[in-house]
Amino acid sequence: MGKTLVILGSSWGDEGKGKFVDYYAQKADIISRVAGGSNAGHTLSIDNVEYKLRLVPSGILCKDKFCVIGNGVVVDPKVLLEEMDSLSARGVDVSKIRLSNRAHVVLPYHQILDKLSEESRGDKKIGTTGRGISPCYIDKADRIGIRVCDFIDKEEFAARLKFTIEQKNIILQKVYNHAPLNYEEILSEYEGYADRLRPYVCDTITLLNEELNAGKKILFEGAQATMLDIDYGTYPYVTASHPVAGGVCVGAGIAPKKIDTVIGVVKAYTTRVGEGPFPTEQLNEIGERLRKEGHEFGTVTGRPRRTGWLDACVVKYAGQISGIDYLGVTKMDIFDTFDEIKMCVAYKIDGKIINEIPASLKVFAQVEPVYETFEGWKCDTSKIRNYEDLPVNAKKYLERMAEVTGTKIGIISVGPNRDQTIVVDENIF
Ligand code: GDP
Ligand code: IMO
Ligand code: MG
Repeated sequence: MGKTLVILGSSWGDEGKGKFVDYYAQKADIISRVAGGSNAGHTLSIDNVEYKLRLVPSGILCKDKFCVIGNGVVVDPKVLLEEMDSLSARGVDVSKIRLSNRAHVVLPYHQILDKLSEESRGDKKIGTTGRGISPCYIDKADRIGIRVCDFIDKEEFAARLKFTIEQKNIILQKVYNHAPLNYEEILSEYEGYADRLRPYVCDTITLLNEELNAGKKILFEGAQATMLDIDYGTYPYVTASHPVAGGVCVGAGIAPKKIDTVIGVVKAYTTRVGEGPFPTEQLNEIGERLRKEGHEFGTVTGRPRRTGWLDACVVKYAGQISGIDYLGVTKMDIFDTFDEIKMCVAYKIDGKIINEIPASLKVFAQVEPVYETFEGWKCDTSKIRNYEDLPVNAKKYLERMAEVTGTKIGIISVGPNRDQTIVVDENIF
């Protein structure tokens, strides 16, 4: 049993990562987010009480664990504080949150530029969450971003913000014909956030490595998913970070050889929010049914999620890139009433099976999914807690998923609640 476990999305996000992070957090000493920002929306359900998290790690509902926001995350201080306040108001202890001094800060101009850039793309829009994520990562790469260590240093923040707002105002006015931003107003609002966050800031790289060396167990919580990765996803319809196992090393300061186990979370069917290719999408009554019965509406934006049959090709691809050891399958219960279920097990182009995920979206658009059809199990799985007790047809579906993706199934979810979980392998973490 390893000391570190990574939980990642294996499709286009919203696979149910938060649910499994909350489950495994009970066995961890530290839970750390490593990439992305408040574009993530992880919903946890404990005793039928729902919690929606965007920046705070999904381990927060397990008492006495460090919940780390790593250096690879882009942090909107206003969103983080709102989330901390709302958790505190519900009696959740947030005192063990730790924020990396190297994480980059999302500021108001990032959100404004996110929206303006989307508008200017017209029908080529990405369908971003509008949270300023990509503009913040752009500033990081452009070396004009503001890091948490500078954000909480009054003098540094004032000077850096002044310079950056001058730069952004040129773009806002000259490119987008937008009103300039007021430096003093933003400074005074954000200084207040910095004052509140200062006690939580530390060198999380040292914290994580020291704890690991002391024999503690760390759970890394992925946000987004492989197909939204800026290198491996359906570029340009992707996010701006690396939601793959490699991103954990970069986003937390952990050496690759210290990653022991990786779980790729996969929903029993596939969904996507925002624009971009989605070969198994069902723009018909099946898609409507999945959306309705699976409650497929975005946590962050409330947008209806696009829905379709499980695309096992992208899960297999995610497995290669991140070295996924186990699949964590969620939402099996949504198929409880289906007569027939399909799974895409390969892609064809011009009648020939292809062995890769096409890089070119022009080629990706020509992909024909090869489906296998499974008989439904037509019974309630939501109360099942042992793999053996699952209906035969559900096992057949899961076994085929494991076969096509070349990955064993480690854990299964049959409902949103923490206890609606079937542990297939007890020795994962
Ligand atoms: P994440 O972003 O990957 O953490 O996933 P989201 O939280 O955005 O979306 C997953 C949704 O499915 C949440 O509302 C969960 O409460 C819910 N969920 C997770 N697992 C299950 C399950 O096995 N069955 C059902 N019915 N809902 C689930
Ligand atoms: P979780 O962690 C689903 C999508 C957006 C858009 C694209 C780029 O909950 O799985 P961005 O705002 O990141 O620039 O948007 O990525 N996207 C997500 N889709 N789940 C997420 O996170 C997502 N985070 C970003 O919808 O298509
Ligand atoms: Mg989500």
